[in-house]
Amino acid sequence: MQHVGISSAASVAPPPETDLPKDDQPKGDLTVRTIAMPADTNANGDIFGGWVLSQMDQAGGIAGVDRAQGRVVTVALDAMTFIRPVRVGDVLCVYTRVSHVGRTSMKIEVEAWARRFCTQVRERVTQATLTFVAIDEAGRPRPIPPEVPSPQAAT
Ligand SMILES: CC(C)(COP(=O)(O)OP(=O)(O)OC[C@H]1O[C@@H](n2cnc3c(N)ncnc32)[C@H](O)[C@@H]1OP(=O)(O)O)[C@@H](O)C(=O)NCCC(=O)NCCS
Repeated sequence: MQHVGISSAASVAPPPETDLPKDDQPKGDLTVRTIAMPADTNANGDIFGGWVLSQMDQAGGIAGVDRAQGRVVTVALDAMTFIRPVRVGDVLCVYTRVSHVGRTSMKIEVEAWARRFCTQVRERVTQATLTFVAIDEAGRPRPIPPEVPSPQAAT
C-alpha cells in the first residue's frame, strides 16, 4: 500500500472546524483508542496514513472477531479519503459498526476520529468500509454464526 503522509500541525493548517455539520458524530462502538506518537511519523514529522489505516484494520478485526466468534481476515477495503490531518499528540479514536453480514463475510464501517491534543475537540479524519471473512483453522472461509450479545453489551 502506498504510504500517504498526514501532515503535522507545523506543515498544514486544517480546514476550519466550522465546516463540520453540528450533528456529525461518530457512529458505532469505540473499538480502538490510541495516541499518535512521534514514532508514527516520517522523516518530515508527518503521521503516516498507513499508520491510521493500520489502526482501522485492527479495529475492524476486533469487531469482526467479536461478530464472527473466531478468526477473520481482511479481504477488501473500500476507497479511503483522508479528510483531515492527524498530528502528533492527537488521540486517534476508531469506531466500528457491522453493516452487513453475508454467509462467510461481513462489511464493517470504520471511522477514525482525532481528539486534538490536550482538547476535547474531535474531528473525523477518515472512514472506510472493510470486508472481513471468517476463516477456520485451515484458513478456509467458514459460515458466520448467529449473533450473540458482545461481552460489553452483556455487562
Ligand atoms: C479471504 C479468503 C479466505 C477468501 O477465500 P475465497 O476462496 O476467495 O473465498 P470465497 O470465494 O468463498 O469468498 C468468501 C467470502 O468472501 C467474499 N469475498 C471474497 N473476495 C472478496 C472481495 N474482494 N471483496 C469483497 N468480498 C469478497 C465473498 O463474497 C464471500 O462472501 P459470502 O460468503 O458472505 O458470500 C482468501 O481470499 C484469503 O485468504 N485472502 C487473503 C486474506 C489476507 O491475508 N488478508 C490480510 C492481508 S494483509
